[in-house]
Amino acid sequence: MITCVACHGTDGVGKSFQYPNLNGQKLPYLIKQLKAFRFGERKAPDMARMARTLTDEEIAFVAEYYSKLNN
Ligand code: HEC
Repeated sequence: MITCVACHGTDGVGKSFQYPNLNGQKLPYLIKQLKAFRFGERKAPDMARMARTLTDEEIAFVAEYYSKLNN
């Protein structure tokens, strides 16, 4: 899933304690957070850098991927 997996894993489980799990999160929640990171409404340097490069289509795609993983 692009480079998201370096921190959040292919299974949506954070690779380290500071990286939140994404598996089992709801689709609308993930989309909302990614757009908030992109516009700097939610402050997080790592995620701002990632989200800045994403189009709406890419956000929808990665959000769908992670929302379909089970806990
Ligand atoms: C360099 C590590 C890193 C990479 C790469 C990364 N993230 Fe994150 N991500 C983080 C950190 C750290 C947070 C917690 C941010 C905070 O402090 O709120 C986070 C938070 C999130 C959240 C919010 C989770 C929640 O519980 O609210 C989402 C959604 C997310 N990342 C999705 C992605 C996606 C999709 C990608 C790929 C485009 C990605 N991340 C790439 C480190 C990373």
